[in-house]
Amino acid sequence: MQDKILVVGAGGQIGAVLTDALREAHGTDNVIATDLRPLENQSGPFEILDALDGNALTELVKKYRATQIYHLAAILSATGEKNPMWAWDVNMRSLFNVLEVSREQQLSKVYFPSSIAVFGLQAAPAMTPQYSVLIPETVYGISKVAGENWANYYYRRYGLDVRSLRYPGIIGYQSMPGGGTTDYAVDIYHYAVQDKPYECFLRADTPLPMLYMPDAIRATLQLMEAPANSLSVRTSYNLAGMTFNPGEITASIQKEVPDFKVTYKPDFRQAIADSWPASIDDSAARKDWGWKPEFDLDAMTRDMLLHLREQYSV
Ligand code: NAD
Ligand code: SER
Repeated sequence: MQDKILVVGAGGQIGAVLTDALREAHGTDNVIATDLRPLENQSGPFEILDALDGNALTELVKKYRATQIYHLAAILSATGEKNPMWAWDVNMRSLFNVLEVSREQQLSKVYFPSSIAVFGLQAAPAMTPQYSVLIPETVYGISKVAGENWANYYYRRYGLDVRSLRYPGIIGYQSMPGGGTTDYAVDIYHYAVQDKPYECFLRADTPLPMLYMPDAIRATLQLMEAPANSLSVRTSYNLAGMTFNPGEITASIQKEVPDFKVTYKPDFRQAIADSWPASIDDSAARKDWGWKPEFDLDAMTRDMLLHLREQYSV
């Protein structure tokens, strides 16, 4: 049977790219993009949807006879700290709406991304294992830990096939990030191609796990295509690509743009970054569904600069 996929939060940093990839894989008309705000340049169906409106979500699932939902709408780590109750409400209520409609309408699969933000200061700071102490420092992280456990609950209690990845910071040229702590690693490339100096909001020596967008999209599609009986993790899979700090990404860019200058002025996001691990053990993902990243830092830098130079016509 042909799947019909509803993407919730399709206009975001990941949603914009993932929607195109899903349309490529499943057919343009079979992927319905939805977001709070109007989106331009949609090649397929698009609907305005506030994921907090459970009735509106149910109507769309029925209207398009959706068989899968990719639930990407969320308030990310840095924005969430500015208004914790609002972030909790958006992240949890939207997830419950997605899980409930998927259970009631018997959807075949649900995708819900989690994050490295589930880890806090008590988790191992490097090569953090799949099963770690999860005491996050941010409301965003708390919502992701809760979300992972609800995903697991719906799978075990109702048999709903919910799948999830703990994305590291995602870096891509196609879209801009939406209020996270890892956003600097996208912004910095935009400044470099425009020959502008960049002021980084993290210290130069702050390592974080990161992943290039093509690898993130490939991981997502691979997980969602994997046979259900090969998946041993029903909370959320650790996922790793590369680790670098702001000093190292600057040095990588300077190999291509020698005059690029970066200064460092840490703000409230430093404490968030300091609470996250530097690297992640993703051996469960590798073993269960064959995950393997393709891009390292320098390969990503070359690709980012190539595409951004085209975008800025420089
Ligand atoms: P984003 O902030 O760029 O995009 C979120 C999208 O959701 C936006 O288009 C926004 O308009 C929409 N949205 C917000 N509230 C909504 C609502 N109530 N109803 C409908 N749409 C709403 O986020 P992203 O970076 O694309 O992240 C997508 C998912 O991946 C999130 O769940 C996020 O937690 C997770 N994630 C992202 C990263 C990353 O580095 N980008 C890392 C780890 C996890
Ligand atoms: N990139 C995300 C953030 O910084 C991690 O989930 O919030």
